[in-house]
Amino acid sequence: MTETPNLVAFTPERLEKVKEIIARYPEGRQKSALLPVLHVAQEQWGWLSSEVMDYVAGILSIEPVEVYEVATFYTMYHLDPVGKHVIEYCRTGPCCLMGGEDVYGHLKKKLGIDAGQTTTDGLFTLKEVECLAACGWGPVFQIREQFYMNLTNDKVDEIIEELSK
Ligand code: FES
Repeated sequence: MTETPNLVAFTPERLEKVKEIIARYPEGRQKSALLPVLHVAQEQWGWLSSEVMDYVAGILSIEPVEVYEVATFYTMYHLDPVGKHVIEYCRTGPCCLMGGEDVYGHLKKKLGIDAGQTTTDGLFTLKEVECLAACGWGPVFQIREQFYMNLTNDKVDEIIEELSK
């Protein structure tokens, strides 16, 4: 593990967690821990700035570009500041066939934002994602580990109102 003079640093508890994740992999294969370590980083900072990604690269003794290429590939990593609730809305075919387009339009109107934007109160960020592997229950969106399925306009209203409290 490389020491870094960066001002960005994991809390002692998270650093322990990161060490435990790295220890799951054979010596010299610490790059394999990149995805879960990025999750820990996102849990701490809310999103992955270039400073945070550089810090993670230092921790794993890999090049920063190796972190950037992974973080920019997966939609689950946030590369800009996000709101309290990040709505990851499935935009893939099966959900669209189940009325996902209409519900998506309703959700955007309700929040007053488009994909990639955050509401002015900082409560919601909207992201478009590909299949969330819940096609049989579409339309679907995800907030953290929670799935919201069989969405309708009324259901969206209820969810947004509940999360706005
Ligand atoms: Fe939406 Fe698979 S198409 S979850």
